[in-house]
Amino acid sequence: MNKPSLEDLFESRINYPDFDAKDRLSKLVGLDDQISRLTKILSLLINSESLKAWADKYHPEAYSLVDTVLRRPPLIIFSGDVGSGKSELAMTIGDSVARQEKIDITLLPLSLSSRGQGRVGEMTQLVTAAFEHAVTEANKLKSPEGKARGGVILLIDEADALAQSRESSQMHHEDRAGVNAFIRGIDRIANEQLPAAIIMCTNRLGALDPAIKRRAADIMEFKRPSAELRAFVLSNTFSPLGFSTVDIQSLVDATGADDEVDYGFTFSDLTQRLIPSIVLDAYPTHKVSPDKALVIAKDMNATPIFMEQV
Ligand SMILES: Nc1ncnc2c1ncn2[C@@H]1O[C@H](COP(=O)(O)OP(=O)(O)OP(=O)(O)O)[C@@H](O)[C@H]1O
Ligand SMILES: [Mg+2]
Repeated sequence: MNKPSLEDLFESRINYPDFDAKDRLSKLVGLDDQISRLTKILSLLINSESLKAWADKYHPEAYSLVDTVLRRPPLIIFSGDVGSGKSELAMTIGDSVARQEKIDITLLPLSLSSRGQGRVGEMTQLVTAAFEHAVTEANKLKSPEGKARGGVILLIDEADALAQSRESSQMHHEDRAGVNAFIRGIDRIANEQLPAAIIMCTNRLGALDPAIKRRAADIMEFKRPSAELRAFVLSNTFSPLGFSTVDIQSLVDATGADDEVDYGFTFSDLTQRLIPSIVLDAYPTHKVSPDKALVIAKDMNATPIFMEQV
């Protein structure tokens, strides 16, 4: 079997700071808590010197305190519904870390969605190669004394293929091998104290292997937008076009749960389906009108909630 090349493996590596990422990060709605928590966790995993400096200043005798925090496994899990900002946050948070720590961050994004489910052993090979590359990159940035010269974030997106509990009897040997490769990779980055962290995104937290969950420094949950957050997104978009508060509220209601379905629109339903449909309906001959926007919203169905098939 050929080893996948770096170009084959990672769709598009991103270096931060990056203005496009900064802009996209600032557009995420309702994730302020996750963003500040994630920035802190990643900063400490990637740049432990800043925690040591903090401890020297405030708790100079407490060596084991710092050690305990630094020995946390370098994994953060994003779990939750479709179109709720997991991939978008994972692709942009590096900018926040880079700016806060004043170091360069590289993101290595690997999606397991359509891959690794074909040939036997392919997923294992992909995961192993991804960690191999991340370790090589991170080793270049590590410095024996003091602050690392930079940090690496390895993103394993659409990781549902890995989210099959090892306890599940249906799981094939190849899948188990993929999970084991993932666990080995995490442990390796932790043991070698590399300036690197792993973000894993999945819709299926319930089916995630306990040994993977146990290694997560944090499990962040992503949800559909509440009525308030839908109002925020819709008002940001349509108030400048002259929509009234009542117009916006009608759209908020039309995109919420109703008698037929007990779930509302996802963020991506709003930004990638509803808003473009309203614009394309008016383009190129009309203005966007609140009445027509409401008709379109009522005609559109929310994406069904992702069901765990354990
Ligand atoms: N919190 C949010 N605020 C604003 N827009 C959002 C938010 N979450 C998602 N979106 C919009 O939806 C799009 C899709 O989001 P994203 O790809 O991050 O979903 P996801 O959680 O990774 O879903 P999946 O589980 O299907 O992969 C984003 O590009 C963005 O336009
Ligand atoms: Mg995604």
